[in-house]
Amino acid sequence: MCGIIAYTGPRAAYPVILKGLRRLEYRGYDSAGIALLNGGLEVYKKGGKVASLETLTKDKQLIGNTGIGHTRWATHGEPNDVNAHPHLSFSEAFVIVHNGIIENYSALRQDLLNKGYVFKSKTDTEVLINFIEDIQKSNYCELEEAVRLALTKIVGAYAIVIIAKDLPNTLIAARKGSPMVIGVGENEFFIASDATPIIEYTNEVVFINDYEIALIKDNHLTIKDIEDAPLTPYIQNLDIELEAIEKGGFDHFMLKEIFEQPKSIGDCMRGRLNVANEQLVLGGFRKYGTKLTNANRIIMVACGTSWHAGLVAEYFFEEFCRIPVEVEYASEFRYRNPVINQGDVVFAISQSGETADTLAAVELAKAKGAIIFGICNVVGSSITRVTHEGAYTHAGPEVGVASTKAFTAQLTTLMMIVLKLAQERGTITKETFKELLTALASIPSKVAKALQLNEQVKYIAKLLKDASNFLYLGRSYNFPVALEGALKLKEISYIHAEGYPAAEMKHGPIALIDEDMPVVFIATKDSSYDKIISNIEEVKARKGKVIAVVSEGDSVVSQLADYVIEIPPTHQALIPIVAVIPLQLLSYHIAVMRGCNVDQPRNLAKSVTVE
Ligand code: G6P
Repeated sequence: MCGIIAYTGPRAAYPVILKGLRRLEYRGYDSAGIALLNGGLEVYKKGGKVASLETLTKDKQLIGNTGIGHTRWATHGEPNDVNAHPHLSFSEAFVIVHNGIIENYSALRQDLLNKGYVFKSKTDTEVLINFIEDIQKSNYCELEEAVRLALTKIVGAYAIVIIAKDLPNTLIAARKGSPMVIGVGENEFFIASDATPIIEYTNEVVFINDYEIALIKDNHLTIKDIEDAPLTPYIQNLDIELEAIEKGGFDHFMLKEIFEQPKSIGDCMRGRLNVANEQLVLGGFRKYGTKLTNANRIIMVACGTSWHAGLVAEYFFEEFCRIPVEVEYASEFRYRNPVINQGDVVFAISQSGETADTLAAVELAKAKGAIIFGICNVVGSSITRVTHEGAYTHAGPEVGVASTKAFTAQLTTLMMIVLKLAQERGTITKETFKELLTALASIPSKVAKALQLNEQVKYIAKLLKDASNFLYLGRSYNFPVALEGALKLKEISYIHAEGYPAAEMKHGPIALIDEDMPVVFIATKDSSYDKIISNIEEVKARKGKVIAVVSEGDSVVSQLADYVIEIPPTHQALIPIVAVIPLQLLSYHIAVMRGCNVDQPRNLAKSVTVE
């Protein structure tokens, strides 16, 4: 949540920062702002999207080679011009951008008010910059030392960058709990919440860890820990292409990412799955692989769409590995004093690798002695750095706030892990192993075929776009797909939608069904096919409007449903990867037709770094 960006170097800072803000806007889009060091400090900020900031600054002379920028997802204080970042200190000597939450801000604010500080905004961030200023004044110390001392007293999460009126070519940055990466160019430095605004200029990056403070001064980077001990910056080379974070001719990132899935799923399997040799190679399970093979229980922690991927994986692991699985909302797990026994293994599933609750759940489970495997998409993200081992999903950058390609890559990765594990545990026959391996290898082509349904789905979307409620129903492997379909619709079109296990419908949701209620069934040919047909009959008997995702060639459901969407057949465990495609498309088209901002739905953010 919130995106921060900073630049110092030979270029004009404004265009670099503005472009960076546009790339980071998916992290929050309540307001945006920029501060430039140009002899003094110039600050421009505006409620609304980055475009509003651009309008505000259109006719201004924006000079300066050092600056900071921010795009906000509001936590403290409503999203307006005043609460927008950057925030100046009381004396206007320093200015800060911040991603995170300062939990003890209220007490600090009161102390500062008693000392005569005046606050313009309602934010915790303005408290932090004044707290730093107060420390600097009372200790007569350098700004970086004041920052360090202040941070030892801060409770909460932060990624901050500060520039000062009297410190040319200088950026001071620090992190705890919120992501931060520094790009190291030729005589120039970039700081951002993730690498997307940086890779256009350099692939060389340094990930800042919790409790680290970075000082960039006169073209030199030094990093210290919060105890003031110097650290050696570890420069890594990032393998992200610029095209991967651009729209590539599509109207929205979400549509681009939906259509990228044959490739992203292929990328996820590349170098790992070999059908000819009947082999699976997962490099990230070398050291702790045996612990996983011998696991007594698996606990999955995740949020949002990643939690749905965990639910599908529960079916995978139980069916093929015969290991009991619990799938937990990370936010509940972390506050529940969960029982973790020896032999338990935890999987943390997260696209961003930054979700605060998932990260905290991992830390808790680790402290209780569990072995943790990460299933993440963003390379070098916080979760990947605290887990013992793991596997990247390799889906490429996902920019649309509603997760699409990350979900199918998570399922693909988890299935590969399951197959490997089942083979090692001897819980899968050679035939089933081969059958699944072959089916998995052909998933990109099945997904490509499902994408050809786009026009048909668009047609159905047109007929349903004005509904106020939707119900999504599925059984077995397709129950989590129903949840995911409903989540996609409500996230981006603001239509109320619920996902349910189809049989459970009789215990409540059936009361809602009438001729105005579209009910989306995932009714593919699998072991629960006959049962779901009965559920469709039950809905039709109550005049519900049925949209059914069925297997190609289905002749039974097509007699019952109002609209059918035929997807190519595959092994029943892999159907979720194909069945979710038309549901992603349905929510996309409905949202576009309702005039919603698909890539930046209201109140949401891509990376939820606050709890
Ligand atoms: C937010 C995003 C969702 C995502 C969830 C979990 O709510 O809008 O798309 O599924 O966070 O994020 P993660 O990065 O941990 O998968």
